[in-house]
Amino acid sequence: MRGKFITLEGMDGAGKSSHVAWIADWLRARGRRVLVTREPGGTPLGEQLRTLVLNEPMDLRTETLLVFAARQEHLAACIRPALDAGDWVLSDRFTDATYAYQGGGRGLSEAHIDALVELVHPGFEPDLTVLLDVPVETGLARAVVRNGGQGPDRFENERREFFERVRAAYLGRAHRHPERIRVVDASGSIEDVELTVRGLLGSLAEAGQ
Ligand code: TYD
Repeated sequence: MRGKFITLEGMDGAGKSSHVAWIADWLRARGRRVLVTREPGGTPLGEQLRTLVLNEPMDLRTETLLVFAARQEHLAACIRPALDAGDWVLSDRFTDATYAYQGGGRGLSEAHIDALVELVHPGFEPDLTVLLDVPVETGLARAVVRNGGQGPDRFENERREFFERVRAAYLGRAHRHPERIRVVDASGSIEDVELTVRGLLGSLAEAGQ
């Protein structure tokens, strides 16, 4: 049986990385084989593209095309083969991030992103997307603490208004795809978020029996 594709989304500092690890363990404890991956990235070429996208100044369309180039590679070499083999795939970000960052954040039209989706993964979307939602203020404060000595990347350097647009775009998508994208209030404790996410995963696991 085909595996399930789960994605985690949210602005920088929403806590995605903390949740990816326990979700994978939780699913494995329930007998699933789980591939943990991320975007941009997930393949050797994709990781090189990630380094460029996060660090090199570039035109918005170049940025978007590179994100989708990495995604094409990720789907072809990694995500689709794993799902076909019955594995579950857990990805830290996917196409909703392009609508949020390049679309909402930077202003690329939704129609242009739709066209790239049509090219790269027509009719294919995650089975479940967990959107970890925090107020921008909270997310930015957490991201600063987490960064420690490391310098910020091109996205982390953005201003508050940029992240307000990213958050609004994410919430707008969740509103339009309420079955797939589940918004989880991530401003509380990790334990509270875990409890809610476990409920969502439980329903998906049962649906996949
Ligand atoms: P992120 O998951 O935040 O990495 P880390 O936790 O290591 O900081 O992802 C890196 C950045 O990539 C993030 O700021 C959002 C950006 N991004 C896009 O702009 N568009 C996309 O389509 C994707 C997948 C990510």
